[in-house]
Amino acid sequence: MTSAMALAARQTGADSRIEILVDEPGAVIAPEIYGQFVENLGGVVYDGIWVGENSKIANVGGLRKALIDALKRVQPGMIRWPGGCFADQYDWRDGVGPREKRPRRTNFWVDDESWPKGANRLGPQSYDTNQFGTAEFVRFCELTGGQPYFAANLRSLPAEELYRWLEYCNSPAGATTLSDVRAGDGHPAPMGVRYWGVGNESWGCGGNFDPEDYASELRRYSAWMPKYGVDLRVVGSGPNDDDFSWTRRCFSKLARDGQVHGIWGWAAHHYSWNATGKSKAEWSTGKGDALKFGAPQYYSLLRGADDVERIIEGHWAVMAEHDPRHRVKLVVDEWGAWYAPGTEPFAEALLGQQNTMRDAVIAGLTLDIFNRHAEKVGMASVAQLVNNLQALFLAHEDQFCVTPTYHVFGLYTGHQGGRSIPVMLSAPRIHYEWDGAPALLRGLSSSASLKGQTLTVTVTNPSMEAEREAEIVVRGAKAGAVSGVMLSAGDVHSHNTFENSEAVKPKVLPSPGLRFVFPAASVTKFEIGIG
Ligand code: AHR
Repeated sequence: MTSAMALAARQTGADSRIEILVDEPGAVIAPEIYGQFVENLGGVVYDGIWVGENSKIANVGGLRKALIDALKRVQPGMIRWPGGCFADQYDWRDGVGPREKRPRRTNFWVDDESWPKGANRLGPQSYDTNQFGTAEFVRFCELTGGQPYFAANLRSLPAEELYRWLEYCNSPAGATTLSDVRAGDGHPAPMGVRYWGVGNESWGCGGNFDPEDYASELRRYSAWMPKYGVDLRVVGSGPNDDDFSWTRRCFSKLARDGQVHGIWGWAAHHYSWNATGKSKAEWSTGKGDALKFGAPQYYSLLRGADDVERIIEGHWAVMAEHDPRHRVKLVVDEWGAWYAPGTEPFAEALLGQQNTMRDAVIAGLTLDIFNRHAEKVGMASVAQLVNNLQALFLAHEDQFCVTPTYHVFGLYTGHQGGRSIPVMLSAPRIHYEWDGAPALLRGLSSSASLKGQTLTVTVTNPSMEAEREAEIVVRGAKAGAVSGVMLSAGDVHSHNTFENSEAVKPKVLPSPGLRFVFPAASVTKFEIGIG
């Protein structure tokens, strides 16, 4: 905090200050940053989204209606499918044509070690009935307003199959054999699918490539992709976390071949999973419980989530070595909290977990970071939509509820398509322990955007125990009417269940001012009219 800021804070009685610099330039926040991820994994597709047309559960053409209605309200900018690791094993042809004739196939996740005890290992979560294929997914996108983003199979299908999938989706009605198949699947008009990922985690489950080999494959797969009048956006399979060497070596190889601009986006994955409070932790043993946690596990997870800012800045700098004008955007198409097994909403929901106010704080921190780096982040998707990792929804048979993370997405919709406004924030840092030594976390997190005459400001208080008073100051414009909505709960462990689906829900603030006390572990949105 500068001494001028400290003085100003003392004069107002608040110890923190959030200055919104309306006059400063900022990029437009792509609605695609508010994306979702749907992988054919555990209970995401079967039971989560797809219940079937003949189900007693309310559905639209087999798609769970309650999910459609709730998702539409938070305006998903994009929806990624079919994986994840599943994508590099998926043959899109299995999921087109008459549903009753579609083959049953072994799912990528069939042998995963995390299957809960008692799970039916012979159901569609293990042996895919392919009832949910391309047309069903695109219909889901159309009903919810998200743009489809496909992850194409690089590991186990030839490049020709990517062109054919594109032909099925986008070729003109009546023009190709595959557009006729599409029409038979209930979608005569071209689907206009714009976003195409080439492989997934190609450094791991997507083929264990080395960077140079992957770059060559990426170039080969994307060398010719029929456009059908669509401005295609190709996304390369980028790094895990801060593996800057993957980005550097792939970009160097693409640059040697003059192909850096053959891609529009570069996908990075970042999960927050380490609950040990120590930097040296094992993936298999270092995760914590979704519901039972104390301060060490809480701050350990927040530290991991907050780290996405360093990861974005680091890859961006490396990408600049071969793309100085930054035509290629970062796509954080898998992010979220990942806990140890044990809180799955039902046994077939592999990698399903509960979602508390801790996850709401993680979502607030992460989305603020994406908003503040709107010139870098072109798309992002939280993993995953329903019944999986940091899900927005839990759904099983006729039971359904939204999670605290869902409500954060609800609070942030106003940012979509707004101009990102720089925020100068001063707040005393939070002290916690890391590697047995004192460590610091930002005292507050915030982002702001402007659409027309409305300024949207979101503020997260990451402290597990302390409220924080802050003053919001609008610079470069006159602040008018203020409204606000807040998500908080007395206990940071609070969460929604099928039985108690409204334990955590946002509250409209009665006549909020620009000086505000943010409760511990809360996420708040203000809308400020400016003149
Ligand atoms: O989201 C679950 C898995 O995490 C995805 O399939 C994979 O891409 C990542 O490792």
